[in-house]
Amino acid sequence: MKKIKTVGVLTSGGDAPGMNACIRAVTRSAIYSGWKVIGIYRGFEGMIAGECQELTTEDVSNIIQRGGTILKTSRSDEFTTPEGRKKAYDNCIKKFGIDALIVIGGNGSLTGAQEFAKEYDIPCIGLPGTIDNDLYGTDSTIGYDTALNTIVDAVDKIRDTACSHDRIFFVEVMGRDAGFLAQNSAIASGAEAAIIPEEYTSVDQLGSLISRGFRKSKNSSIVICSESHSIEGGIMHYAERMRAAYPDFDVRVTILGYLQRGGRPSAMDRILASRLGVAAIDALKEGQRNVMIAISNDQIDYVPLSRAIKMDKPINKELINVLSILSI
Ligand code: F6P
Repeated sequence: MKKIKTVGVLTSGGDAPGMNACIRAVTRSAIYSGWKVIGIYRGFEGMIAGECQELTTEDVSNIIQRGGTILKTSRSDEFTTPEGRKKAYDNCIKKFGIDALIVIGGNGSLTGAQEFAKEYDIPCIGLPGTIDNDLYGTDSTIGYDTALNTIVDAVDKIRDTACSHDRIFFVEVMGRDAGFLAQNSAIASGAEAAIIPEEYTSVDQLGSLISRGFRKSKNSSIVICSESHSIEGGIMHYAERMRAAYPDFDVRVTILGYLQRGGRPSAMDRILASRLGVAAIDALKEGQRNVMIAISNDQIDYVPLSRAIKMDKPINKELINVLSILSI
């Protein structure tokens, strides 16, 4: 096994609050171990173009509290091709003498890392960085807790107006094809229901749930809907069907969009990102390769990249039960 002297680090895919805390942790922990750190800019696109610069401990000062990513990020079509990966190897790995690569990102980014590791003999470590929390084998991903809090904060505000006008609000949240943000933000904001890709919800179910609340004491309702394409017709379909079936209900739709990805990372995300960043360097020292560093029952764990990206992370059914009991 080649002795590691230099590690490359990049962020890829959708940015997530806490990525900067993770870059800081990787950089400082590597330097602490006597290694050199090369920051690769704009994810795999920058790797292909050779946009790299050495990172010092000072370069990562004063960033732990900042959202986004100082290394910038991208989604790269070119890196999905063998030709693109060859350019990345030549222009980045070879040119800058990188002995190991650390990729902070979500499913697509860790898939890229895995493909790269299959073709080139370089240890790749994935760090779960996505607001979607959709990587198998880790209890949480960097950015998820902050996004969840951002959503809850927004829904609290929407509830004020929903309540004042006696309205029903359908609120769309991110998460790609995973319902974690939707399900847990619904519980945390006291919403009446969550529409998630993992569990089918009919318009009739929703209608009777909301009517039941109105017959009792409620005069407004919040339904959180995941953005997933596998929810047929999406949030608009549900809102329209609800308007048609229940003309007395005053229905409104809010799509939270990209504000969910921004903002200062929560303390939980900063701690998670710091632990995972340090663990990535430890893993390389132990000779680990092609694994994602995970957190499981508050312990650091190594999950083969192939499992982290391929396996579906299930939603805990208890969460579905909790929401349905508490929304009576
Ligand atoms: O993966 C993070 C995420 O924010 C998803 O929740 C969302 O579906 C997607 O990225 C949006 O991607 P883009 O920034 O390319 O529009």
